[in-house]
Amino acid sequence: MEPRVLISEQAIAERVDALAVEISGDYAGSDDLVLVGVLKGAFIFLADLARRLTVPRVIEFIAVSSYGSDNHASGAVRLVMDVRGNIEGKHVLIVEDIVDTGHTLNYLTGMLQSHGPKSVKTCALVRKADRSEVDVEIDYLGFDIPDNWVVGYGLDYAEQNRTLPYIGTVDPED
Ligand code: PRP
Repeated sequence: MEPRVLISEQAIAERVDALAVEISGDYAGSDDLVLVGVLKGAFIFLADLARRLTVPRVIEFIAVSSYGSDNHASGAVRLVMDVRGNIEGKHVLIVEDIVDTGHTLNYLTGMLQSHGPKSVKTCALVRKADRSEVDVEIDYLGFDIPDNWVVGYGLDYAEQNRTLPYIGTVDPED
């Protein structure tokens, strides 16, 4: 069954443009911004956002997985792949596709802080505010969305639909 459109391709493009302007303004004059994309879901958002920034930036990736059930209910997060470059003394911006319970971003913020960066900030395309279990700050947020299963623009359901150009909702039973 086709996903139902929740956020159109155009709405995403406009919001990513606006986020890029805001982030470029905030980091103006800085030459040590490191964007850390969280695999897999953030790969499309990171690619679009990174290309719209007007400040110097380098790209890193990090990969995590949640222990136990796949809805992250346990809150335990495991690091699968760390950043490759040295982020000590750099401005780090974590780029996520979605913040659900908040456990992943909470873990990553703390973990990256331990590498001694100049700052750590967070950027997420979408957030399910109703699902929040930990209070984690999102410095740059694209959209608040309801608690539906969402796919597209990097997001998947069972690895399907990541490359849809829009964000849509699906029923897992479909
Ligand atoms: C998603 C998303 C975040 C995490 C958010 O990743 O990319 O990393 O879940 O959930 P939380 O706020 O409840 O911690 P997922 O585990 O689906 O992996 P993927 O990005 O590889 O699809």
